[in-house]
Amino acid sequence: MFPRSRLASRIAHRSGILELMEDLGSALASGSSDVVMMGGGNPARIPDVEAIWARILTGLTEDPVALGPLLGNYDPPAGNPGFRADLAQFLNRSCGWEIGPENIAVTPGGQTAFFYLLNLFGGRGAGEDQPTRKILLPLAPEYIGYADQGLEPDFFVACPGKIKKTRPHRFKYHIDFDQLRITPEIGAICLSRPTNPSGNVVTRGELERLASLASAHGIPLLLDNAYGLPFPGVVYTNAEPFWHPNVIQTLSLSKLGLPGTRTGFVVGPPDVIREIAALNAVVGLANNNLGQFIARSLLQSGELETLCRNFIRPFYQHRCLEALALIDRELDGLPYRVHEPEGAFFLWLWLEDCPLTSRELYLGLKERGVIVVPGNYFFYGMPGESPHQRQCLRLSYTQPPEVLAKGIGILGAWLRTLHAARPRRKRQRSAGSGESDSAD
Ligand SMILES: Cc1ncc(COP(=O)(O)O)c(C=O)c1O
Repeated sequence: MFPRSRLASRIAHRSGILELMEDLGSALASGSSDVVMMGGGNPARIPDVEAIWARILTGLTEDPVALGPLLGNYDPPAGNPGFRADLAQFLNRSCGWEIGPENIAVTPGGQTAFFYLLNLFGGRGAGEDQPTRKILLPLAPEYIGYADQGLEPDFFVACPGKIKKTRPHRFKYHIDFDQLRITPEIGAICLSRPTNPSGNVVTRGELERLASLASAHGIPLLLDNAYGLPFPGVVYTNAEPFWHPNVIQTLSLSKLGLPGTRTGFVVGPPDVIREIAALNAVVGLANNNLGQFIARSLLQSGELETLCRNFIRPFYQHRCLEALALIDRELDGLPYRVHEPEGAFFLWLWLEDCPLTSRELYLGLKERGVIVVPGNYFFYGMPGESPHQRQCLRLSYTQPPEVLAKGIGILGAWLRTLHAARPRRKRQRSAGSGESDSAD
């Protein structure tokens, strides 16, 4: 084999996100109804929303003034100037921000935006006297997709969320501000809101505290709104979009139902936006135009907000409640907890007394035709190993109710068999601890 670079050994290898995307891609490409796909974060097929895409696409193909530049032009690397102006206007109107096109860069999806941002602020410093910097994750578990994006080893420092058992069979992570240390080696703080995998929507108070801490240390807070605000708005609490001069935000069209357009946005100070544009030019010359054309049509017609409010959020909230009811029915009598679902597309299941690790559960469920994501992948940069890191599964609830019923039914039946096979004394102990309401 040919000799390989350090980059190849760092990122071109097996990783959690590769496994997740391979599982997701093969299940969707096979079109088989035998596989229960509760793994990746593919958005659901929502007929009312797909009708809007069809209408816009038909309009674009029938309009030569649009079709020419849509297919035939390389746009500037920061994105289409007219689109960036429309998006800035929308964000100012709907969120009360005060930004212009110079504050927005288009990227090939939020994933690429994070590859750029994490490596702009983490890694070896620009000057001889500059330290190698790390990215601080203030609320772990955190998104599996960042885990392998750092170009330097030991790229992340994660602060485990403080567990609060909120009510029977539910729990919630909180940022443990007492443990959060912003040392000189930290280059940025990074958080997804809603948090993938847990569906936690960090409050305004917590965000203000994080942003002030970042500001006091002269570093940015990177806020990933992939599922959040103002679009696609898959948030079930009364949270609002957040603005602070120290925050660099990302948005994406993917969870509106357009992951195939690979379109994301960075909103931040003009010097960072210029660097994102420079990276776009080096890596890919320009962005895909399709997402910007579709989004511009939604911005100009004023449909974006109604689409999120009337179709997208109610759809996922309904699915979420259906999936929760299925979990509570199929796992009844077993020790389990679900993170309070406040947004995004997932239930984060904590199986504290399960005899198998999350990885073993993932493999066993895959053999049984159910794809989930093992929770261990979301705990990286952690200060140490804890049993909790091997006790969680992420289940997507984007599939139709009958598919969810099948998958959760298979999970429940297998967990029941596993618990029944355990020694009696252990079973009694775990059943007792399952109903405790105290904070960890
Ligand atoms: C939290 C989070 N951030 C970013 C992304 C990247 O999405 P995309 O590149 O499709 O915008 C995802 C995708 O699932 C995600 O869950």
